[in-house]
Amino acid sequence: MTPIEIKNKTNMTQRDGFTSTFGVLVATLGSAVGLGNIWKFPYLTGTNGGAGFLLVYLLATLLLGLPVMIGETMLGRATRANAVSIFEKLRPAQPFWKIIGYTGMLAAMLILGFYTEVAGWVFAYIFKALSGSLLHGDASAAQAQFKATIANPLSALAWQWAVLLLTGGIIMLGVSKGIEAVAKRLMPVLFLLLVVLCIRSLTLSGAGAGLKFLFAPDFSKVSAGVILTAVGLAFFKLSIGMGTMLTYGSYFRDDQNIPVTAGRVMLADLSISLLAGIAIFPAVFTFHFAPTDGPALVFLTIPAVFASMPGGQIFMVLFFVLTALASIGAILSLLEVPVAALTERLHWSRRKATALTVLLIAILGAPAALSNGAAAHWTIFGLTFFDFYDFVSSNLLLPVGGLLLCVFVGWIIGRDWVQSQLSNRGLLANQAVVTGVFMLLRYVSPVLIVIVLLRGLKVF
Ligand code: TRP
Repeated sequence: MTPIEIKNKTNMTQRDGFTSTFGVLVATLGSAVGLGNIWKFPYLTGTNGGAGFLLVYLLATLLLGLPVMIGETMLGRATRANAVSIFEKLRPAQPFWKIIGYTGMLAAMLILGFYTEVAGWVFAYIFKALSGSLLHGDASAAQAQFKATIANPLSALAWQWAVLLLTGGIIMLGVSKGIEAVAKRLMPVLFLLLVVLCIRSLTLSGAGAGLKFLFAPDFSKVSAGVILTAVGLAFFKLSIGMGTMLTYGSYFRDDQNIPVTAGRVMLADLSISLLAGIAIFPAVFTFHFAPTDGPALVFLTIPAVFASMPGGQIFMVLFFVLTALASIGAILSLLEVPVAALTERLHWSRRKATALTVLLIAILGAPAALSNGAAAHWTIFGLTFFDFYDFVSSNLLLPVGGLLLCVFVGWIIGRDWVQSQLSNRGLLANQAVVTGVFMLLRYVSPVLIVIVLLRGLKVF
């Protein structure tokens, strides 16, 4: 279920949200799973040295991602409000905390500025796969093809706008029910397709080298900067640190077991990322690509694996279609944060809030879209706009948002309230789990985030 559908439902039933425990799981997973799994996870694992990065990412997911996700959905459910108003409701006398919602809105805009562009590349690749022009296993030809696709300024902008119009239209018109029903059925298909891809990849000649890269850690590559990137990815993956899970939590059911739901979402999300990694890295070594090929990685390797399979072209089209659908689910959850806050706080219509948000993203996103061609030489702190938006959101705003959330839950809201919320007012016998989550949120996660941020940003 997407936000608008939940909204429609909540209008009828006073914001009581999802109808089933399973619905909550699917909706939350629909936000978490996206380009983060298929595109970002493999490319960052490649550029940051492989297994060592993966290990740090796993630790960050367990020690920071999971508790923050639980904390966010808990606050959302308890207040049934948008990412800004949640803090106003809980601590009306301390307006400072609303900053979590505001930085979240900023982060959402920056993420959408580059995310919609990558989604555009996926759409473009659907058509290339259909036309058959992707069926080759030649590394340099594939690289040239990818570069040509993303460098063309007109098509870069046009694809980004197409994605924005499509997702903005879905949010505005409320036709998401159909889309989500489709996505819900197709998510298992994506999973199966990834399993097929993995099997094919594991029988390639470079399988050993690929698996070694992915699973045999070389700790010499794990620098402070690498750790910060892994932490940023953990936040990005679980859609936390900027309000998506706060907002989604506000549609959770009262009898939802929050820690268990969050744990399941995390595990399912992680398995999809790992499958993508296992599908991609053997191909990197077999077809002479480089793990450091960056954002191009999935667009180069996946067609090469499919080209080596019978019926490859059909599978390839299916793969890019499914990835596009997954990215739409994630984009809707990002758009929902500013749209929900603008409509509820300024009493704007959904139409107006969406139109303004989409327009802003189109303006902000244009230099990111052009970063791989016409605007490649426009840089901020030595980064292209594309990389700058990605860096500022994932490596700065999301961890800071997560840190503030930990402090809010662990030190301002306090133990008894958390205990009551996470045990559904004593109905669940999960005392030990709740204590663990609370201790992580109060002591462990904030300290870790501060150290990682300061070291990663070279403050000390
Ligand atoms: N988690 C999604 C992905 O990995 C992206 C996403 C959706 C997101 N909502 C978010 C990232 C909120 C950060 C914050 O593709």
